[in-house]
Amino acid sequence: MYYPEEIIEEILSRNDLVDVVSEYVRLKKQGSSHFGLCPFHNEDTPSFSVSPDKQMYYCFGCQSGGNVFTFIMQMENYSFVDAVKYLAARANIDLPQAEYSEEVKKELKEREIVLNIHKETAKYFYSNLQSQRGKLADEYLRSRKVKDKIRKLFGIGYANADYADLYKYLLYKGYSEEMMLISGLIIPRKKGKGYIDRFRDRIMFPIFDVHNNIIGFGGRVLDDSLPKYMNSPETILFDKSKNLYGLNYARTAKEENILIVEGYMDVISLYQAGFKNVVASLGTAFNYQHAALLKRYTNEVVLVYDSDAAGIKAALRAMPILSSVGLKIRVLQIPGEKDPDDFIKEKGAEAFRDLIMKALSSVMFQVNLIKKKYDIEDVEQKIQFTMEVANILSKLNNSIEMEVYLTQIAEETGISKESIFEEIKKARERNKRINRHNKFSSLPNESKEEQKSSISNRIDEKDGLYKAQLNILRVISKNESIFQIIKEHLSFSEFIDPTFSKAAMLIYQAYDKDNSIEAAKIINHFESVEEQNQVSFIFNEEKNDDKEYDVEKAINDQIKLIKKANIDLKSRTTTDIYEIQALIEQKKQLEKLYINIISG
Ligand code: GTP
Ligand code: MN
Repeated sequence: MYYPEEIIEEILSRNDLVDVVSEYVRLKKQGSSHFGLCPFHNEDTPSFSVSPDKQMYYCFGCQSGGNVFTFIMQMENYSFVDAVKYLAARANIDLPQAEYSEEVKKELKEREIVLNIHKETAKYFYSNLQSQRGKLADEYLRSRKVKDKIRKLFGIGYANADYADLYKYLLYKGYSEEMMLISGLIIPRKKGKGYIDRFRDRIMFPIFDVHNNIIGFGGRVLDDSLPKYMNSPETILFDKSKNLYGLNYARTAKEENILIVEGYMDVISLYQAGFKNVVASLGTAFNYQHAALLKRYTNEVVLVYDSDAAGIKAALRAMPILSSVGLKIRVLQIPGEKDPDDFIKEKGAEAFRDLIMKALSSVMFQVNLIKKKYDIEDVEQKIQFTMEVANILSKLNNSIEMEVYLTQIAEETGISKESIFEEIKKARERNKRINRHNKFSSLPNESKEEQKSSISNRIDEKDGLYKAQLNILRVISKNESIFQIIKEHLSFSEFIDPTFSKAAMLIYQAYDKDNSIEAAKIINHFESVEEQNQVSFIFNEEKNDDKEYDVEKAINDQIKLIKKANIDLKSRTTTDIYEIQALIEQKKQLEKLYINIISG
């Protein structure tokens, strides 16, 4: 839905930022600003400021900042469109009604009913657990030391053993068989007519989304039978790759990091021990969408995996995915082949807190794994070790971090910092050659793409043109109204860098389809980690704290730079005199271009 600028303006002017923020944060006036404890990171002294004049907020601690829309998007994890709806309702402003097609209307209605089915079902399961029929399940949970308070918080329940127990209950509550089937909680009988429950005689864990809607269930058997867990299938509500168990609580835990564990019971057990910042993926491998989701709520994750081979493999697999969205990663290994639940029960919460403190950075975790493979006393093996370590370190681009690791590794191994660094330089050269080789060998003839790509190769990351493309993409993906203005002047094909150009196309398309921009969806269109890294950079905002910075001028300069690069590219490849003249004329016109963005 695209809302006219006047409406956005009206919503802005009728939702005073100080009032809106005050609903979440206790603010104190100090000079011309209001200060409070930042809701987006954990702190003891206020570094979160709201300026009533500018109607902007900024945190000196975590660098988040923006206007009232940004605030609600960040606070409630809403898309821009959702934030518009929320703030319009708050100020009693009627939004123009979207003209939904019959099909969309039908789907919205279905969603609503299926959400209600889930809510009713969770209540029903919960009451079963307290009833006579749930006695064994109740005993099982007691044996695993799950307290009543936690049962309630996580809505843990029990699915009765009868074949069509839930089916009958939902029928009695007035739901149609069609909706029950869509919910995935009821399935057709394999033989003959009729329906049965998907989950029978299992302990039931409702799965919440970040807004605390129940969107699915996981069910565990009471004994050792198999399969141990069953999860809801994909439905109109439930997508495993977009949700994490426990995130509804973890996102407001206000801890420095979020712990990632493997199972439902680990989340519950850690939460009970006081670690509310814990999530698990829902019986699937960690993916980019999970990573992007986490990045909205934290900057650091701690991977908590068993120390067995499978656990290490899972951690190594998750690392590049997590780091591609800019998350800092540490790895916590539980000693002695235990899962977090066992460990907490045996050693207690304090011992676990200690493990979190001691969790290694992803780099040192990998270095330690390499160390185990080699005997550093042996000269040959020492060289091998140094080469492998250098390869890991060569991927760092922060020199302070590099120095810290070099020092630590030199101390632990007795290999000098200089020799490790020599190897790092060699590794970097090697990687560069491989990258170059891959880029050229993957391209067929002299295509336009190739020219573009070879130009973009010459662009250093710090280069103005690269930055200009990145910045414009950041701006348009964040702000639909600015996008609507910019798209009149800049087409997606004008982005010089092929990856950015493709990202731009996807962003333009998403807006055209009336959708809001979902970073994860866009990133999913790219296959290589390098491309995904580059694209996710569009969505990891670097907030600007320079208040005098003229955004409009910057955007204009950047658009000009991109357009000029296009003209240069064309002039280099044409020999047609008329076209050359036309290009010279275009360049002249470009000088005069000025796009009014802020005033519309
Ligand atoms: P407990 O065994 O009760 O301690 O549960 P847990 O949560 O520790 O489970 P476990 O470590 O065995 O498995 C980790 C996660 O993998 C679970 O929470 C489930 O999400 C998933 N999982 C385990 N077993 C199965 C299974 O048989 N089928 C499916 N679909 N998922 C499973
Ligand atoms: Mn377990």
